[in-house]
Amino acid sequence: MFIVPPLCLLSLALRSLARPQSYAVWAADSGIARKQGNGLDSSGRAIVSYEHGEFQWGLRQLFELTGNRTYFDYIQAGVDNIVFANGTVHGSYTVSDFVLDPLRTGPTFLYLYEQTGLNKYKVAADIFRGQLNAHPRTAQGQFWHKLKYPNQGWLDGVYMGEIFYAQYTKTFQPNNSTAWADITSQFTLMFENTIQNATAPNNTGLMYHGYDFSHKQVWASPDRGHSPEVWDRALGWYSMALVDVLETIPVTNPGHASILNILRTLAPKIKDAADPTSGAWWLVITQPGRAKNYFESSGTAMFVYSLLKSLRLGYVTDDDGSILAAAKKAYQYMIDNWVVPNSDGTINWLNTVIVGSLDQAGDFNYYVSQPTDINDLKGLAAFVLASLEYEKL
Ligand SMILES: *[C@@H]1O[C@H](CO)[C@@H](O)[C@H](O)[C@H]1NC(C)=O
Ligand SMILES: *[C@@H]1O[C@H](CO)[C@@H](O)[C@H](O)[C@H]1NC(C)=O
Ligand SMILES: *[C@@H]1O[C@H](CO)[C@@H](O)[C@H](O)[C@H]1NC(C)=O
Ligand SMILES: *[C@@H]1O[C@H](CO)[C@@H](O)[C@H](O)[C@H]1NC(C)=O
Ligand SMILES: *[C@@H]1O[C@H](CO)[C@@H](O)[C@H](O)[C@H]1NC(C)=O
Ligand SMILES: *[C@@H]1O[C@H](CO)[C@@H](O)[C@H](O)[C@H]1NC(C)=O
Repeated sequence: MFIVPPLCLLSLALRSLARPQSYAVWAADSGIARKQGNGLDSSGRAIVSYEHGEFQWGLRQLFELTGNRTYFDYIQAGVDNIVFANGTVHGSYTVSDFVLDPLRTGPTFLYLYEQTGLNKYKVAADIFRGQLNAHPRTAQGQFWHKLKYPNQGWLDGVYMGEIFYAQYTKTFQPNNSTAWADITSQFTLMFENTIQNATAPNNTGLMYHGYDFSHKQVWASPDRGHSPEVWDRALGWYSMALVDVLETIPVTNPGHASILNILRTLAPKIKDAADPTSGAWWLVITQPGRAKNYFESSGTAMFVYSLLKSLRLGYVTDDDGSILAAAKKAYQYMIDNWVVPNSDGTINWLNTVIVGSLDQAGDFNYYVSQPTDINDLKGLAAFVLASLEYEKL
């Protein structure tokens, strides 16, 4: 159970750097103290950023759990930095760029509309929904990751686009069966096109980072057009998208069972891919232990969140308790290795890789040569989410 600490105890704990009552609170408050995820970039310019949406997803749960208005106000101020009073979205966002990433802030627009009734948040959500109506697709119907990446589906994009698409549909068009079928097919097409086949070298039964339906990219496999490696964060995004969308799509909709089947297929394989000694996940999951590969913190936090949420909501069965044990072991590794208290009462979050893209070779050497950073919000926000689930155990 999550226990709301009395204010005096919490601040005492923070001051003395004792183990806090809640890592979710500690991590969120640390991000807030650093002004992370507030709709502004490091130079103070408005920016529509998926990692802000990811962080807001955690803050919103903290607001609901604790009733602490600070979290709600921070979310609203963050969105007000990227939505004008007339509802126009700004901050380097242009519909005609057709990028899925910015849409991950859309669920926050919908939440604020629900909570405040202010029309500007609906106008902003309608702009994002309009993008999806015109968004370019493969011949099979998968949204392109970006207009500038023609015919490419990336796992990341499912997290960025489909949670918003589903929440919008639930809120404004619950009977739009075309939309529900479309959302479902974004998940199933991605799964079918990127799942490792049984004869693949180092088969993990997991999903490659992405695919090129036109098979033109240097990284596209000759047989199916998929990229060469399973990258932890891409699969992490996709796994979070699965557990989050299942809460939104009606249980009676046939898409619910299709998405649930994918989750049930992947969850045991994700568990199996954890490093048996540390409990964490490798950056490049398909090449465990290879020189320069390392345990990466954002993907690990995302898997802990997805596995624990799957168990809490009964999406996945765990007869031998091995999934729960894997998630707990990884959580312990995270707090022992990647959470470092600072003298000002905040924590640092370590070892999140900054980027992983399919704009280059998409091979092992590409992934392992990308730098990591401290307090990268993609990882910190995932740790907030993982901690929220862990603290509900
Ligand atoms: C609410 O959260 C903020 C930090 O995010 C904290 O400073 C404040 O003490 C909290 N308020 C209460 C009543 O717990
Ligand atoms: C919305 O407001 C912004 C900022 O004031 C302005 O630049 C923009 O033209 C307005 N858009 C519409 C559609 O009125
Ligand atoms: C959706 O369909 C149900 C049952 O057909 C109906 O009761 C409901 O009013 C519809 N909702 C909307 C928003 O159209
Ligand atoms: C239902 O969703 C489909 C697919 O996104 C969309 O093309 C259509 O405009 C939506 N229908 C309504 C009534 O908005
Ligand atoms: C499975 O993967 C291997 C190696 O990438 C490839 O050679 C083979 O064609 C694939 N089989 C199928 C059925 O896709
Ligand atoms: C399989 O995994 C091993 C161990 O990490 C690695 O050295 C090897 O390169 C991998 N093979 C392929 C084809 O990815």
